[in-house]
Amino acid sequence: MPILENSLRNLTKLFAKAYWSAKVFKQKKSKYIAVSGKVVGHEELSNMIDASLDMWLTTGRFNDAFEEKLAKYFGLRFALTTNSGSSANLLAISALTSPLLKERALQAGDEVITVAAGFPTTINPIIQNNLIPVFVDVELGSNNIDVDQVAEAISEKTKAIFVAHTLGNVYDLEKLQILAKKHNLWLIEDNCDAFGSRYLNQLTGTFGDIATLSFYPAHHITMGEGGALLTDNPLLKKIIMSFRDWGRDCWCPPGKDNTCNNRFGFQVGKLPEGYDHKYIYSHIGYNLKITDWQAACALAQLDKVDEFIEARKRNFQTLFNGLINCQEYLILAKAIDGADPSWFGFPITVKDNAPFTKVELTKFLEQNNIGTRQLFAGNILRQPAYLNKEFKLRIRNTKVKSNLELEDSDYELLPNSDKVMNSCFWIGTWPGLQEQDLDQMIETIKKFIDGYKYSRDGKN
Ligand SMILES: Cc1ncc(COP(=O)(O)O)c(C=O)c1O
Repeated sequence: MPILENSLRNLTKLFAKAYWSAKVFKQKKSKYIAVSGKVVGHEELSNMIDASLDMWLTTGRFNDAFEEKLAKYFGLRFALTTNSGSSANLLAISALTSPLLKERALQAGDEVITVAAGFPTTINPIIQNNLIPVFVDVELGSNNIDVDQVAEAISEKTKAIFVAHTLGNVYDLEKLQILAKKHNLWLIEDNCDAFGSRYLNQLTGTFGDIATLSFYPAHHITMGEGGALLTDNPLLKKIIMSFRDWGRDCWCPPGKDNTCNNRFGFQVGKLPEGYDHKYIYSHIGYNLKITDWQAACALAQLDKVDEFIEARKRNFQTLFNGLINCQEYLILAKAIDGADPSWFGFPITVKDNAPFTKVELTKFLEQNNIGTRQLFAGNILRQPAYLNKEFKLRIRNTKVKSNLELEDSDYELLPNSDKVMNSCFWIGTWPGLQEQDLDQMIETIKKFIDGYKYSRDGKN
């Protein structure tokens, strides 16, 4: 058997090398420059074949190894995988509602501070848990939470702050940590876009009580669909696991029994004495676990993450240097002092004085084979889903109201969120981009702007 296994492994390696070099060659020849993509090789495939040979199917040894390695990478005690970044966000908020947190547990009607110019599944778990999102504005350029608006938005009901590091750019964690401490708030970092970003030389995702990661192929490392939660707090780890694994009280991994050595020794709730601990539920939970194939893929990706991070930073800098003279009409992304972002993408905001719109520029880029993306939901409060179904919200320091009662004056309190929706988009920084791709991205944007400058100066 070991001989057969070894030959299979060697064949996999040969196949993957041939297959991927053909694929990369084809990609290089393709004219379209995608905003994101995965960079995978024979190591991922070999691990996934190994996982197949195990035929374990569910979460297993690769997941154990990945969770351990991921936690170590961040210098935290716990990393827990889940089947998407969105699930990680759902688990993070759900965990904070656990009665095990006693007086710090979030109750229906409590408030969570966030931004409207974000990804939907950062905000959705707040609404889904009957909590009240409190929206503050973002800053132009960084597209990150305006930290100065947080203090004025905090009320007696505010219990948590939950925001993403937009496109990997880092918000002022020091100020948020001080506010969180002062007002006894939970701080959750949506770190889905920011694997490897640093603030004051410390990795983002290690500042808050909980942080989340996404491993969707557009992200820094991938397992196809997947995500993870990071925490240093053993109680939060226990609660997150419970919510992730059906809500059960038992912490046995799949296929194991009696890890607590007291499987039939419990008498809780209104259950009969000795009811099997494996079937005792302490939370109204989900099943959001991953399979071992996903973990096998991500384990190999984790060995490459430092290279990926460096490539993203390099690509960002090349784009920034190349577009530096376009700032008459474009706002380019800026990192705050002390931040070293691991860029998910390169955001560009069209200035108000520009003789063209974002739509015109992005159309031109797409027509010229440059992939573009919106900054996620734009101003999420203008999206149909958030206009149709009723929920309660607050904007900055205003009173709680229903989303169905939003008026123009409410939207005017978040002018930059509208600006992001109307004028911001992003292009790629992913490690699969070649130097000539970056040159083409820069030249195409310059060509578009020069066309307008030429007609303007021609008129003068
Ligand atoms: C900031 C942010 N949070 C959460 C998510 C959700 O991650 P997933 O697609 O893995 O569900 C994304 C996805 O891109 C994201 O950008």
